[in-house]
Amino acid sequence: MCGIVGYVGKSHAKEKVIDGLKRLEYRGYDSAGIALPIDGRIQIRKHVGEIKNLEKIIGAPEFDSAVGIGHTRWATHGAPSDVNSHPHGNGDNSIAIVHNGIIENYQEIKEWLIRDYGVNFKSETDSEVIAHLIGIFYDGDLLEAVNKAVAEMRGAYAVCAIAAAEPDKIVAVRKDAPLVAGIGKGFNFIASDIPALLKYVRQVYLIENNETVVLTKDDIVIYNEEGRKVKRDVFNVTWDADAAEKEGYEHFMLKEIHEQPKGIFETLTRRINDDDSINLDGISMTKEDIEGFNKVYIVACGTAYHAGLVGKLVIEKMAKIPVEIDVASEFRYRDPFVDENTLFIGISQSGETLDTLAALREAKRKGARILSVVNVVGSSVARESDDVFYTWAGPEIAVASTKAYTTQLVCMYLLGLYMGRTKGTIDEAYYHKVLADLKALPDKVTALLKKEDDIAEIARKYHRREQVFFIGRGLDSGVSYEGSLKLKEISYINSFAIAAGELKHGTIALMEEETLVFALATQDFLYEKMVSNVEEIKARGARVIGVAKEGRTEIEKVADEVIYIPDCIDEVSPVLAVIPLQIFAYYVARERGCNIDKPKNLAKSVTVE
Ligand code: AGP
Ligand code: GLU
Repeated sequence: MCGIVGYVGKSHAKEKVIDGLKRLEYRGYDSAGIALPIDGRIQIRKHVGEIKNLEKIIGAPEFDSAVGIGHTRWATHGAPSDVNSHPHGNGDNSIAIVHNGIIENYQEIKEWLIRDYGVNFKSETDSEVIAHLIGIFYDGDLLEAVNKAVAEMRGAYAVCAIAAAEPDKIVAVRKDAPLVAGIGKGFNFIASDIPALLKYVRQVYLIENNETVVLTKDDIVIYNEEGRKVKRDVFNVTWDADAAEKEGYEHFMLKEIHEQPKGIFETLTRRINDDDSINLDGISMTKEDIEGFNKVYIVACGTAYHAGLVGKLVIEKMAKIPVEIDVASEFRYRDPFVDENTLFIGISQSGETLDTLAALREAKRKGARILSVVNVVGSSVARESDDVFYTWAGPEIAVASTKAYTTQLVCMYLLGLYMGRTKGTIDEAYYHKVLADLKALPDKVTALLKKEDDIAEIARKYHRREQVFFIGRGLDSGVSYEGSLKLKEISYINSFAIAAGELKHGTIALMEEETLVFALATQDFLYEKMVSNVEEIKARGARVIGVAKEGRTEIEKVADEVIYIPDCIDEVSPVLAVIPLQIFAYYVARERGCNIDKPKNLAKSVTVE
């Protein structure tokens, strides 16, 4: 859900819109565009890639207007390309729109418009239907046409629309995607986020859900869902532009930790039908395909690999199929046993990690079916896969991955449930039990995030420790690797993850007074063994922070601290268990004065070998 900027004033809308879009670049995007009403027609210019590509095609001084709408796109439907970029026009460009969000029923609207109105669609996007809907309903009143169009749409959207016949006006509407109106003198703004406005205004109206806004240069009128004008208090922005980009959070990483309930919710709801079946829209694997696989390979790097560690156990348990897992940089050089009966699952937030891409190509060369779990629509890994399971985490800016990881886990569960139900290797009671716990995750993560201050306190207490271990058993083992990487990559502490059962085979020799150990004990059937591990470690003088489900209090008797996560079935506890580890790593790094969003030596996407 990327960036929208609209301006209505006396002149020079182009400059204001582009300025605003540039302030939204931090949100990550893949293309940009602008629409201006000029001499009775709407001119649309748009280009894939960075805003500077767009600037190269809009430089002519005569290409300007008093009104303009602009967009930076984060593709969800239709790969990044010029034609899929926004703004989108209706047939004769008498209407133009920009859109953040997803129109969930866009296919049925598109079919209806093609069938009954002969509309000729140019793009692959969901958003284009909005322009045609408004065009069809337009009868000289843009507000009325927008309201009629919105009545046909389902999903999340922030939309701005302009009409060639009303070149002094912008109509905007929001549902589940943000919009703010900027209050000027002789001009007004509308944007998806405050940073876009701060160069020109400090007073805004925060637009609420299901509200519509009509902006002219001298007025901003807000209407509620019933069409009645509402009086909205002015919000005075005191933030500086940099703080505003993080919506008040000190770092993108903390913002993204807090965006996890939304990312998990979005990733889940798009894949669960009203009858609780799982829809794998865009994934063409058939029942025969699934029954034909005799092996799954999960291949990834870093945090994505750690999601695979959980995915391995989940898919094996649910689909009763052997799952091998490997880091991509190893997979590609060991002549792996892969053939046409192998399902290769590549996990990658960026979809541009070269090791993962190369591993995918190796598996494809050997005949495997390629399914990728990716966060960036249209990325290389996505494009080269037979099927893509998108995470809906939204742009992840911080180098340290958080919301991408938890949404990747959700995809692993959905895939395991889908394959298990298709193969009949899980019964309906188990299927619905797991699904119910998955649906409860957004609220449970929200509840767990309320412990941020307590966890920050623990981080401040231990932030000087130079040796930190993360241990767990079963699913907790995979999570312990992720917790260790989080701490390592942003605080530069030499942390270390190991299966708890392995400690006694050498590593426990390292335990001493100054050692800190995170003991993950969220798997009920392994809880007692974990409590014993904690006792062994305590006997060597180390400090132990336990992570356990609420109600499992035995560990309190042996650990120095315990962080409780909301109760849940063992299978889904990794989504919760990782949250305290993310927050701990964040506050340790903060105490140590590290560059949290951009740690030294690291890149957000490793596109080299
Ligand atoms: C995770 O916090 C790191 N940024 C890094 O390990 C990352 O997970 C890895 O480079 C894989 O990136 P990808 O998911 O974009 O492929
Ligand atoms: N779903 C729309 C598209 O894919 C809008 C995405 C966005 O919010 O940028 O074009």
